[in-house]
Amino acid sequence: MANSEPSGDSGSTDDSSADPVLEYSIRAMTAADVDRVLQIEQASYDIPWTQQIFKDCLKVGYYCLVMEGEAELLGYVIFSSAAGESHILNLCIDPSQRRQGFAEAMLSQAIATVMVTGAKVMFLEVRVSNSGAIALYEKLGFIETGRRENYYNARPRASEKSKARNGGPANREDALLLAKELAM
Ligand SMILES: CC(C)(COP(=O)(O)OP(=O)(O)OC[C@H]1O[C@@H](n2cnc3c(N)ncnc32)[C@H](O)[C@@H]1OP(=O)(O)O)[C@@H](O)C(=O)NCCC(=O)NCCS
Repeated sequence: MANSEPSGDSGSTDDSSADPVLEYSIRAMTAADVDRVLQIEQASYDIPWTQQIFKDCLKVGYYCLVMEGEAELLGYVIFSSAAGESHILNLCIDPSQRRQGFAEAMLSQAIATVMVTGAKVMFLEVRVSNSGAIALYEKLGFIETGRRENYYNARPRASEKSKARNGGPANREDALLLAKELAM
């Protein structure tokens, strides 16, 4: 599996409102992007991926895309596609750049990319407490297909909720399994 070619896709958040317009483009991640990607990752997750994991993703040929803004990278998405199935492995937007449609644009690009490779379905796992991400996936047509109990290490706040909810271990959190059929 080869990394995605630079998509050349670009867009903006221009909705003809008075807000400043932030131009962006989506392209393949390179090794030179990893430091900035790690910065976003560490600002976003309590249990972030390491630099080595990102390097390995590039090395093994996962699709690794970044969204580039006017000044710096805004976010990234990492996904696989093989044997008709695609998996979203990571999707993250800089905390200061959220709620502007960037994740939706990146995920839509990921979907378009894997459909070209013949993927018929896309899967992902998400923490039950990650309501923002769940709302994003549902907006793009993902539906819940299952649940993995105690799948994630949990941050303290989430683990308290998790324990209250399902009586499981306090340091674990369930994953929801979501899927989207990809029709040509
Ligand atoms: C989840 C995440 C990727 C969303 O990125 P984003 O760029 O802010 O999302 P978008 O602006 O594209 O949102 C698109 C839609 O998703 C939903 N959504 C996104 N974030 C939401 C939030 N915090 N609360 C409620 N709905 C949300 C909304 O329906 C939104 O559409 P709307 O703005 O028209 O209402 C971002 O919050 C993030 O990077 N979180 C940390 C990493 C993470 O949890 N990744 C997912 C791992 S499975």
